[in-house]
Amino acid sequence: MPAKLNVNIDHVATIREARKTIEPSIITAAVVCEQAGAHGITVHIRQDRRHIQDRDISLLREVVTTYLNVEMATGEEMINIAVQTKPDAVSLVPENPFEITTEGGLDVVKNSESVRAAVNRLREVGIFTSIFIDPEMRQIEAAKNAGAQQIELCTAEYAELTLSARAAHGEGLEKAQAEIERLKRAAAFAESLGLIVAAGHGLTYRNIRALAAIPEISEFNIGHNIISRAVFVGLYKAVEEIIRAIGVK
Ligand code: PXP
Repeated sequence: MPAKLNVNIDHVATIREARKTIEPSIITAAVVCEQAGAHGITVHIRQDRRHIQDRDISLLREVVTTYLNVEMATGEEMINIAVQTKPDAVSLVPENPFEITTEGGLDVVKNSESVRAAVNRLREVGIFTSIFIDPEMRQIEAAKNAGAQQIELCTAEYAELTLSARAAHGEGLEKAQAEIERLKRAAAFAESLGLIVAAGHGLTYRNIRALAAIPEISEFNIGHNIISRAVFVGLYKAVEEIIRAIGVK
């Protein structure tokens, strides 16, 4: 079965926040994504509220009928928001206030206590918990030990390697293939520990195919590329197209 797609709609809110106004509506965006066949909606509430606001989470909780996944850091303020609004899933991510986007996976090995505490609080109220990590065996083990039900493999490295046409031949191709193999091994190892495997970050219509062929990956979280394409073809069509790309095994 092809992997599921959660559309990350943060950048619809980025456009709204550029003017601190009411449009474009992320509620409309969520509904259009669902109607186009998305299996879920993902948003990232950041400490600086640069795009998604607290109110968005409450409204999305009422409107989303598929699956609402909220990405957040492990601090108390964020976990309280999750406990109050009860999204279907929370994905724990690292957060550096100066980053343009999430820079890599959460270091669960180094932060095992705080991650475990966050996972416990989320699971106590029935929220499905995922941890965004780099494709490293020790991080996968640490995520399992912290009590997560799912890991999301960070595909930022793969995305970087496939950004230009260099990935189509020679050394660029070899590096991209090596990263695919690393993701494959990580996905198989995580599944062997009983974890559900998701993947995301920097995925596009152009680079998704190789990852869609990894059977252990059951969910993708994709944002920037879909919203970028939506600017030209519309959100409904952009979502349909990426679902088609994921379905091509
Ligand atoms: N997964 C996680 C954990 C993320 O933090 C992000 C970015 O918010 C994504 C997936 C989506 O990344 P992109 O916008 O590059 O598709």
